[in-house]
Amino acid sequence: MCGIVGYTGPREAYPIIIKGLKRLEYRGYDSTGVALLNSGLKVYKKKGRVAELEDSIVGKDLHAHTGIGHTRWATHGEPSDRNAHPHTSRSGKLAMIHNGIIENYAQLKQDLTKKGYQFKSDTDTEVLLNFIEDIKENNQCNLEEAVRIALKRVTGAYVILLIANDDPDTIIAARKGSPLVIGVGKGEHFLGSDASPMLEYTKEVVYVNDYELAIVRPDELILKNLGNEKITPFVTKLDMELAAIEKGGYDHFMLKEIFEQPSTIHDCLRGRLDAEAGLITMSGITNNLEHFKNANRIIIIACGTSWHAGLVAEYIIEELCRIPVEVEYASEFRYRNPIVNKGDIIFAISQSGETADTLVAIEKAKEQGAIIFGIVNVVGSSIARISDGGAYTHAGPEIGVASTKAFTAQLAVLTMVALKIAKEKNTISEALYKELLFELAEVPEKVEVLLKSADTIKAIAEKYKDSPNALFLGRGYNFPIALEGALKLKEISYIHAEGYPAAEMKHGPIALVDENLPVVFVATKDSYHEKIVSNIQEIKARKGKVIAIITEGDETTPTLADDVYYVPSAHEIIAPMLATIPLQLLSYYVGIAKGVDVDKPRNLAKSVTVE
Ligand code: F6R
Repeated sequence: MCGIVGYTGPREAYPIIIKGLKRLEYRGYDSTGVALLNSGLKVYKKKGRVAELEDSIVGKDLHAHTGIGHTRWATHGEPSDRNAHPHTSRSGKLAMIHNGIIENYAQLKQDLTKKGYQFKSDTDTEVLLNFIEDIKENNQCNLEEAVRIALKRVTGAYVILLIANDDPDTIIAARKGSPLVIGVGKGEHFLGSDASPMLEYTKEVVYVNDYELAIVRPDELILKNLGNEKITPFVTKLDMELAAIEKGGYDHFMLKEIFEQPSTIHDCLRGRLDAEAGLITMSGITNNLEHFKNANRIIIIACGTSWHAGLVAEYIIEELCRIPVEVEYASEFRYRNPIVNKGDIIFAISQSGETADTLVAIEKAKEQGAIIFGIVNVVGSSIARISDGGAYTHAGPEIGVASTKAFTAQLAVLTMVALKIAKEKNTISEALYKELLFELAEVPEKVEVLLKSADTIKAIAEKYKDSPNALFLGRGYNFPIALEGALKLKEISYIHAEGYPAAEMKHGPIALVDENLPVVFVATKDSYHEKIVSNIQEIKARKGKVIAIITEGDETTPTLADDVYYVPSAHEIIAPMLATIPLQLLSYYVGIAKGVDVDKPRNLAKSVTVE
């Protein structure tokens, strides 16, 4: 959460920073600000989106070759001009932006207040900045040293970028727990929360690690640890094109990402799945084969949509591999005293690879000796780097705040992982193994087919857009898809929605059913189909409105449902990947019909780097 951008070099810094902030707006959009160094420090900041700041400073002196910019997801202090970053120090000589939370800020603030400091904002960031300046003044040290001393005394998570008016081409940056990428150009450097702000300028990047501090000048990048020892920057080549982060003719990133799924699932399977040869190639598993074959338990740790992918995996892995699986909310796992035994494997699922709760939870499990298998989309992200092995989902950059294509790619990877382990453990019949391999290979094509009738969902969305509530029900492999459908609708349309196991509905939620309640059934053909048809009857008997996602060829359900959407026929283990797509479309079209900014729904941010 919060996007940060920095530039130092021969180009004009402001346009690079503004363009970069627009690409990082998915990380938060409560306020925007820039600080530019040009014969002194110029700070422009404002509540609202990047475009609002841009409009408000037309005609101002924006010339500079070094600068930093921030787009905020509010933690300490409401979204407002005064809480917007960058913050300036008491002397006015330093400006800083921050992504993260300084947990002991209250104590630091109290100490500084006793020394006569007054604060212009409610933020933890301003406290940290003045703490740094105070150390610099009292210790008579340079800024770099003051930052190092201060960071050793703060708890929490941060990426900070700091500039000083007496050092016009230097940016000091540091990270712990939040992401920081430095792009290396010829005589110039770019800084960002991810690589998107620097894509058109350089493909060479350095991922800064926790407890590292960078002194960045146009022709120099010095990396040190907090003990002031130099570290050789490890330069990585980016494998990402500009087109991947642009809308490419779609009205919204969310719609583009939904429609990209035939190719993202294909990219995820490519090079791994060879159905003809009966092979799944996944080095992350092969390299740890004995661990997987002998695993006593798999614990899946994730948040939000990724957690739902974990729930689907629980069903698949237990069915195919006969290994007990537990699926944990990362935020809960990390704060209890979880039992992690030798022989347990932790799966960490994350699109961004930066989710703070997931990251800390797996660090904790790792300390207890667990093996971490990361299923991550963003290459080079923190979770990917601390995992012992893993599999990238290869869905490409996901920019819409609601996760769509990353989810189906997670399901594809998790299905391959389950099949691979099952084959190695000999817990799957040859016939089923082969069948599922071929079924998996056909998913991109089937997704392509079902997306052709997106307009059917659009019409359903128009019909139900004014409902204040909605219920999503599914059984078995489709139960987590019901949860995911409800989450998507909440996020994108602000309609209150609940997901439930279809049979569990009788134990409470059925009280909500009346002639106004839309109930979405994820009812593709599976072993429990007759059971879910009975659940549909129970809703109809109470006059609920039934929207059913069903398999082509199903002749019974349409006679009961008010609205139906057909997905191509698939094995029950594969069907969730198909059934989820109409639910993504439903939330998108309802959101659009209600005038919601679907790519940036209120209060949310992608990449949740705070607890
Ligand atoms: C929902 C959504 C969130 C994320 C969650 C985890 O549409 O995007 O629920 O799934 O914040 O994020 P990652 O997968 O990046 O760890």
